[in-house]
Amino acid sequence: MEGIYLEHLVVMVLSLGLLSGALCQVDDGSDNETTAVYIVTLKQAPTSHYYGELRKNANVFKHGVPRNPNQFHNPRGNSRTNRSSSSNVARVHDSLLRRVLRGEKYLKLYSYHYLINGFAVLVTPEQASKLSRRREVANVALDFSVRTATTHTPQFLGLPHGAWFQAGGYETAGEGIVIGFIDTGIDPTHPSFSDDISMHSYPVPSHFSGICEVTRDFPSGSCNRKLIGARHFAASAITRGIFNSSQDYASPFDGDGHGTHTASIAAGNHGIPVIVAGHCFGNASGMAPRAHVSVYKALYKSFGGFAADVVAAIDQAAQDGVDVVSLSITPNRRPPGIATFFNPIDMALLSAMKAGIFTVQAAGNTGPSPKSMSSFSPWIFTVGAASHDRVYSNSIILGNNVTIHGVGLASGTHEDTLLTLVSALHALNNETTVTNDMYVGECQDSSSFNQDFIEGNLLICSYSIRFVLGLSTIEQAVETAKNLSAAGLVFYMDPFVIGYQLNPIPMSVPGIIIPSPDDSKVLLQYYNSSLERNETTKQITKFGAVASILGGLEANYSNSAPKVMYYSARGPDPEDSFLNDADILKPNLVAPGNSIWAAWSSLGTDSVEFQGENFAMMSGTSMAAPHIAGLAALIKQKFPSFSPSAIASALSTTASLYDNNGGPIMAQRAYANPDLNQSPATPFDMGSGFVNATAALDPGLIFDSSYDDYMSFLCGINGSSPVVLNYTGQNCLSYNSTINSTDLNLPSITIAKLNQSRTVQRSVTNIAGNETYKVGWSSPYGVSVKVAPTCFSIARGERQVLNVFFDATMNSSITSYGRIGLFGDQGHVLNIPLSVIIKVTYNTTTNG
Ligand SMILES: *[C@@H]1O[C@H](CO)[C@@H](O)[C@H](O)[C@H]1NC(C)=O
Ligand SMILES: *[C@@H]1O[C@H](CO)[C@@H](O)[C@H](O)[C@H]1NC(C)=O
Ligand SMILES: *[C@@H]1O[C@H](CO)[C@@H](O)[C@H](O)[C@H]1NC(C)=O
Ligand SMILES: *[C@@H]1O[C@H](CO)[C@@H](O)[C@H](O)[C@H]1NC(C)=O
Ligand SMILES: *[C@@H]1O[C@H](CO)[C@@H](O)[C@H](O)[C@H]1NC(C)=O
Ligand SMILES: *[C@@H]1O[C@H](CO)[C@@H](O)[C@H](O)[C@H]1NC(C)=O
Ligand SMILES: *[C@@H]1O[C@H](CO)[C@@H](O)[C@H](O)[C@H]1NC(C)=O
Ligand SMILES: *[C@@H]1O[C@H](CO)[C@@H](O)[C@H](O)[C@H]1NC(C)=O
Ligand SMILES: *[C@@H]1O[C@H](CO)[C@@H](O)[C@H](O)[C@H]1NC(C)=O
Ligand SMILES: *[C@@H]1O[C@H](CO)[C@@H](O)[C@H](O)[C@H]1NC(C)=O
Ligand SMILES: *[C@@H]1O[C@H](CO)[C@@H](O)[C@H](O)[C@H]1NC(C)=O
Ligand SMILES: *[C@@H]1O[C@H](CO)[C@@H](O)[C@H](O)[C@H]1NC(C)=O
Repeated sequence: MEGIYLEHLVVMVLSLGLLSGALCQVDDGSDNETTAVYIVTLKQAPTSHYYGELRKNANVFKHGVPRNPNQFHNPRGNSRTNRSSSSNVARVHDSLLRRVLRGEKYLKLYSYHYLINGFAVLVTPEQASKLSRRREVANVALDFSVRTATTHTPQFLGLPHGAWFQAGGYETAGEGIVIGFIDTGIDPTHPSFSDDISMHSYPVPSHFSGICEVTRDFPSGSCNRKLIGARHFAASAITRGIFNSSQDYASPFDGDGHGTHTASIAAGNHGIPVIVAGHCFGNASGMAPRAHVSVYKALYKSFGGFAADVVAAIDQAAQDGVDVVSLSITPNRRPPGIATFFNPIDMALLSAMKAGIFTVQAAGNTGPSPKSMSSFSPWIFTVGAASHDRVYSNSIILGNNVTIHGVGLASGTHEDTLLTLVSALHALNNETTVTNDMYVGECQDSSSFNQDFIEGNLLICSYSIRFVLGLSTIEQAVETAKNLSAAGLVFYMDPFVIGYQLNPIPMSVPGIIIPSPDDSKVLLQYYNSSLERNETTKQITKFGAVASILGGLEANYSNSAPKVMYYSARGPDPEDSFLNDADILKPNLVAPGNSIWAAWSSLGTDSVEFQGENFAMMSGTSMAAPHIAGLAALIKQKFPSFSPSAIASALSTTASLYDNNGGPIMAQRAYANPDLNQSPATPFDMGSGFVNATAALDPGLIFDSSYDDYMSFLCGINGSSPVVLNYTGQNCLSYNSTINSTDLNLPSITIAKLNQSRTVQRSVTNIAGNETYKVGWSSPYGVSVKVAPTCFSIARGERQVLNVFFDATMNSSITSYGRIGLFGDQGHVLNIPLSVIIKVTYNTTTNG
């Protein structure tokens, strides 16, 4: 079956095999047909579409740009729910079900009314088909499962002197903006979400109307002016019988850790000390430390999540009036169907876009192969994961003067003393043998060892796949070391673990983990060759090997960064189940996602290494997406009238192409030895580039698209019009401006099939002062590009059309990349990536 996953790495490994039960048997004697959850969409428009029309008129430009109702499409203003209309819609759904399934058994899980008009229902396939034959029903889709795929990142992104400075400092950065998190919930007791952090008044924004559930795990008083909304959605999971209330908490409380982590990356308070395993790692801050947090829990530790619950969560977030939605989750597998964009989650997010909500989604951890993208639609902002410049490196110096590098957030041993190394396998007590405990080398049980051998020495243990699976833990080995008074721990990599990327793991005793199997061999060879044995009995008489551990608590900021991580999902974006490529650039950009410190739930069980800690270091595109959610809040605060596509444009056109050494951003291209398998990142690795927070708050020009443009785009997809009708109730024939995907006004140009030559238009709007721009470009290999005009002056609030001509000069089918740069005389620089995927049918006998 399929699943919804949280997009960070550890969960991916642990989730395998736990996801089961998409279909469940309803045993009622008469009908033993298999039932399943279906998401039924009705043709009648959802309520947000009516409100949208009203709100458009309330829209004003606050920063002096002349108000032009056709310029940006931002219908947000007052988003209070019309509760009477929501119960009316639910009544219509109930009555439809009663009429169609008269006298039959079924279970309605949700009525959706705000973003999509429809419901989730547990029925048999026969009942589903009865429903789909109804005139008022637009679409019936099988529910699918989804998965969840920072102390330093604010500095690395230049926030203190850049974006926060522009926003009035961290004390106000993000104020008035609400970010909604569709995730595993939140730990409301964490200081990152406290609201008594400063004296400055801190009201709940008036456009927000969400509530906080009150349960035993989430008592009254859990919410405050920072954490202003919290609910949970689990009907689909409960119906399947896989909800485990002792692990999953039937409340917004985060029993996993992931949701607490992502919320604090985007909007955690400023200056919260990060103390883990007794060590202090500096202070943490979210990207928008004064933004408000509203939590919609729809993902769970023990099974992931389901689209029916996620859609309910998104629908509620939009009704409540969130400004930004952060989704660190992706479908478990590409939704089936003619076009990837038509699935209930993306369709709900299209309506959210219409309501003015900016949506950020993790790209997925399915890289590095091409077309591994797990976030698809152009109205969603898709974020890949990059490294940042901080590394915690650790090393061990052996008595033969060989230095081996490793990881481990641990202190070192005394600098000038070399300590004796003792392998766990050579320190067993009389009752233990490797035959009766084959994992004894993992140091999980101190009663297996003879303390006389270990006390005061460095204990060598083995790190195997069992640690990845959570069957053995570093924490337990640390316990063993403490019980036996070892001076420290040295883990070598079991030869069966190949290329596994270890995050730095905290240890409360001196220690190191050697991730490289080759280096592990060097250690063991030195250790074994230094043993002294009795010639006749072969018993060890002396442990001759010695070493000292340098420790890994000090961060080193000289790492070359950013770099696209090997696991970050890559374009091109798939358009349909026939594996055609979409003319849309994905990911949109990359942001810090590797080794990110952020808040952790006190009862979070997702990571054994950080269990019981207040903070955790996690990696994945899950961690990259909330960085952008926080920055989007800063943009929204500065430009309240920006539409979602204007925010996306500001982030994209200003993204950086260079790393901290001035070289091109590199992309890792292999799971094993990723730093040896890297090359300069292309737009399919990093989208427009690495986010530049400072520049994104002063983009100069904006590429804007409206809901109608996205509808024209959907209608322009070959054969899509019946699907568009089914999902949106809109007839494509009424969209006389159907466009090809390439012509959507995105801040990038992607051509999946360049058929000899083609002209593409883009249109920019100036949101800054009058400025004159020069246009420069570099052509993709084998393509001649011309842009007109090559220079233009544009007054504040004006638009300018750019014509871009592509002409194939070679017969080739390789992917090639170029760029257009817009260079303003007031300092604005915009960067527009060009990706030409296939160039075919170049005909030498014709004049292109
Ligand atoms: C239930 O299923 C079994 C086999 O799957 C079938 O033989 C039986 O006829 C079914 N009973 C009903 C009432 O549909
Ligand atoms: C709520 O919706 C109903 C019907 O959709 C409408 O009659 C009513 O005027 C609305 N109320 C408000 C306050 O907008
Ligand atoms: C659209 O809906 C109709 C009626 O529910 C259904 O028969 C048809 O297969 C759907 N078409 C597509 C392309 O989903
Ligand atoms: C639910 O979770 C608890 C605690 O983790 C576990 O002991 C129990 O076996 C689980 N129940 C089911 C039905 O999986
Ligand atoms: C290691 O280096 C130190 C100083 O550099 C030297 O005194 C010592 O003899 C060397 N030991 C070995 C085994 O090479
Ligand atoms: C283990 O065996 C050795 C030799 O057989 C003996 O000297 C020692 O006392 C034993 N230790 C324990 C803890 O039983
Ligand atoms: C080796 O072990 C034997 C038997 O225990 C003992 O007699 C002998 O003295 C030992 N040799 C050394 C060099 O310790
Ligand atoms: C980010 O943008 C700012 C302002 O445009 C610029 O000064 C800075 O050099 C950019 N940083 C990077 C890494 O490109
Ligand atoms: C279709 O084109 C006509 C004439 O150009 C225009 O009046 C109408 O508004 C357009 N409809 C849409 C949905 O764009
Ligand atoms: C879409 O592209 C095709 C082939 O390039 C072209 O024939 C057609 O006119 C385009 N449609 C629009 C609406 O631009
Ligand atoms: C900007 O350009 C417009 C139109 O060209 C002009 O009317 C206006 O005076 C200019 N503003 C400034 C500050 O130069
Ligand atoms: C190239 O173009 C010519 C003239 O248009 C045509 O006769 C010929 O078949 C074309 N060749 C190919 C390979 O398409």
